[in-house]
Amino acid sequence: MAVRLFEDKEHAALYRKYRISPSEELIGKVLQFHKSNKDSSNNLAVDVGCGSGQGTLLLGPHFTHVVGTDISPAQLEMARKHVNVPNVSYRESPAEELPFEDGSVDLVTTMSAFHWFDHSRFLQEAHRVLKPHGCLALLNYTMDMELSYGDCSETLNHICNEFYAALQPFRNPYLGPSSLELYKKTYDSLQYPVKEWHENFWVRKTTPLSGYIGMVESFSAFQALLKKDPEEARRLSQDIEKRLLCAMDVTSSETEVIMGIKYFYCLACKPAKD
Ligand SMILES: C[S@@+](CC[C@H](N)C(=O)[O-])C[C@H]1O[C@@H](n2cnc3c(N)ncnc32)[C@H](O)[C@@H]1O
Repeated sequence: MAVRLFEDKEHAALYRKYRISPSEELIGKVLQFHKSNKDSSNNLAVDVGCGSGQGTLLLGPHFTHVVGTDISPAQLEMARKHVNVPNVSYRESPAEELPFEDGSVDLVTTMSAFHWFDHSRFLQEAHRVLKPHGCLALLNYTMDMELSYGDCSETLNHICNEFYAALQPFRNPYLGPSSLELYKKTYDSLQYPVKEWHENFWVRKTTPLSGYIGMVESFSAFQALLKKDPEEARRLSQDIEKRLLCAMDVTSSETEVIMGIKYFYCLACKPAKD
């Protein structure tokens, strides 16, 4: 089953503008794992469910070719608009039917996307396209997010938690109660002897407060509320922004805050023989 929630052009534009991607440091962990495996090579990396391509681009300097794949033409259009290196390209394809030969890919990544796929069909497909000793990396962020600003960070985070709680009823049922559980179960069930599980990796970046609000507005739960009740969605986000500004004692939503987001990830190396 495929869940298609990322098809609107406006949603894709929001993704391009506000989407967080894993940090270079986190991508570095993936590359380090990949490199530590025997006979690893860096010819082709495939980023599945690439969206507007921010994470895909991070792989560019490390592989001869990088291909981002996604089921959404609107997301791919955004990704293609912003590609500025010759070795990164994009293809429209379902995660469950990847357009690559058997045993041809060195690294398959999914960044905040695996939970939307048909999990077992995707894992079979990743296994098919990976070279022996090729690696699979499943990354996702959690709702453990922190805003830091002066001495009011605790108050800011209370307000942010209210934002997430208001969006919780709009979480897509396909996701189940916890993405972390899904990924951990997937990790436990992977029949790859060389594998790693990490659930406590913080990515921090400085962003205007408007960037944080834009990022939450790009979440599928906010988009679901926006479709159901646009007025309520706008009211909620404006109210949260106002309260955050008030706690920070500033008037401009361009004021910079530090945003921290906790990631978890699973890394696994396909054995040489099935
Ligand atoms: C939450 S977004 C993440 C995008 C990007 N990787 C990022 O980190 O910003 C999930 C992406 O997965 C794509 N997607 C969902 N189901 C898919 C499927 N079955 N096959 C391919 N792509 C899919 C969506 O179109 C969307 O672009």
